[in-house]
Formats: sequence, structure tokens, C-alpha cells
Amino acid sequence: MSGETRVVVSRASLRAAYDALRPGTRRAVVTTMGSLHEGHATLVRDARALVGPDGHVTVTIFVNPTQFGPNEDLSRYPRSLENDVEICAHEGADLVFAPAPEVIYRDSGPEVVTVDPGPLGTVLEGAVRPGHFRGVLTVVHKLLGLTGAHHAMFGEKDYQQLVLVRRMVRDLDVDCEIVGVPTVRAKDGLALSSRNAYLSPAERHLALVVPQSIEVGRTIARTGGGAVDVVRAVRQFLDDHDVVTDYAVVTDPELGPAPEGGEARLLVAVRVGDVRLIDNDRLDLGAPA
Ligand code: PAF
Repeated sequence: MSGETRVVVSRASLRAAYDALRPGTRRAVVTTMGSLHEGHATLVRDARALVGPDGHVTVTIFVNPTQFGPNEDLSRYPRSLENDVEICAHEGADLVFAPAPEVIYRDSGPEVVTVDPGPLGTVLEGAVRPGHFRGVLTVVHKLLGLTGAHHAMFGEKDYQQLVLVRRMVRDLDVDCEIVGVPTVRAKDGLALSSRNAYLSPAERHLALVVPQSIEVGRTIARTGGGAVDVVRAVRQFLDDHDVVTDYAVVTDPELGPAPEGGEARLLVAVRVGDVRLIDNDRLDLGAPA
């Protein structure tokens, strides 16, 4: 289904679009950095299903400079606005908000107020990418404020981001429901990510060890293994291939210490050539088949 999708770039036109809605209209938002793929399309589709035909779906497209480190790939981050808008229209979004950095950050100087992610922002991705989650939470807080959304969709692929956004809305009393959406994968199992575009054909093939390592962990858990056994097996599997493991950990669903049994999360981050890939999945520990 391809509908009418408006594109706005300023705060004033965003506000005008919302002012024109019937009072009480349910609003959902999907925040993205563009370069949309089937994973994002799923978020937009789920947002539409959640608010129904009378609700309103906004997709934000903003490559947020403050979440990139000095050695990261801000300038080469893929940008494809025209194609992104087509995908949004196809999935039934009403509005695309695609602001420039100065629209979002205005004249913020060094004394700018930002969102502190707390200790959880300094581990896993936060340890490898210092400042990343401060940038993410600050822009997400702004986008939730600007869109006034009742619901916001986030993929489980960026699991630490999802957990931190949930914490932020709880701890800062932001009145928005955060909806986690399962990771969308290519047929061969690789989690979809805009960064997959950087992989050469050989690296794309090698990258399959990432979802395979998750499967190794799930098998160990399924056959009664605990967190330590899972981590040992996943690390060993990754070490046997030509990739660099940044981390392979088992935590509880909130990213706290791994439980003895029951629901847990396995998270891995791996470098394939120059490309960092992350993946994760739910585990059920201590549950022999
Ligand atoms: O997941 C992303 O694409 C970004 O981190 C987000 C949530 C849009 C914030 O810039």
C-alpha cells in the first residue's frame, strides 16, 4: 500500500502537521538515521498496525552527529533520502521529519544540557564507543519531545539502546510507550543493519559467524548450559574464525549480571575487517531439552 507521505524539515512545519490532526489522534514514531532497510520497514509497519488507520505515524530521518565518536564514520554514513521516503510511503507512514543538524541542535554551545545514560552507558557498546549513548539518548529525548509521540518503536537489534531508551523514559518521566521489535534477519541469518553495506562480498560471507555464534550459545543453553558455558562456547567459536571479538556476554534481560537460570540475553560484538557488527538474542538458561 502506497499512501500520502509528507516530508517536513523544520520544527514549525512539524508542529503545523500535528496541529492539523484531530484532537486525541494516537501518534507513533520510528526514529532512524535513514538508509532504511527491511528492519526499519518492519518498525514502520508495526507502528501503523499499533495506531490503526486513524492514528498517525512519523518517521524521523536524522544522522545524529553527537552519537559518532571522532574516529567513527559520520561523513561516510550512507544517506538515501529519496529511497527512504519511498519505503516510508509504502509502509503507510504519514510524515517524514528529516531535519538538518542545526534544526535539532540549534545554537547549542559547550554548556548544552544532555541526557546522562548512567553506568549502563559505559559498558558493552558504551565501552567501545565512549559518549555514544549520551548522544543517542539526547537526540531520542529531543525527537520524542518534538513529535509528542505516544508510542516509539525500537529494534531489538540495538538491544543496549532499547534498554537505555526504556530506562530514560521511565527515569525522566517521558510519557511515551517504548515498543521493542524483534530483529529482522536476511534469509541466511545476518541481522539487517545499514552498516552491512560496508562489507565486501567476502566479509559479508564471513559475517555469518555472528548469527552462527548466537545459535551456538542458544544450543548450549537449550541443553542445560549456564551463562559461563555459553560465553565459553561462543568465544571459542568466534576465535576459530577470522574475526575480532569485542565482547560476547550473557546478561539478564535488563543487562545486569547473568541469572542462574531463566530468561537471559546473549550479546556479541565482532569486527569483520573494518566493520563492527552487533547481534543478540534471548536465551533461556538452565532449561535442558
Ligand atoms: O538506532 C538508530 O538508528 C539511532 O541510534 C537513533 C535511535 C535513530 C538515534 O539517532
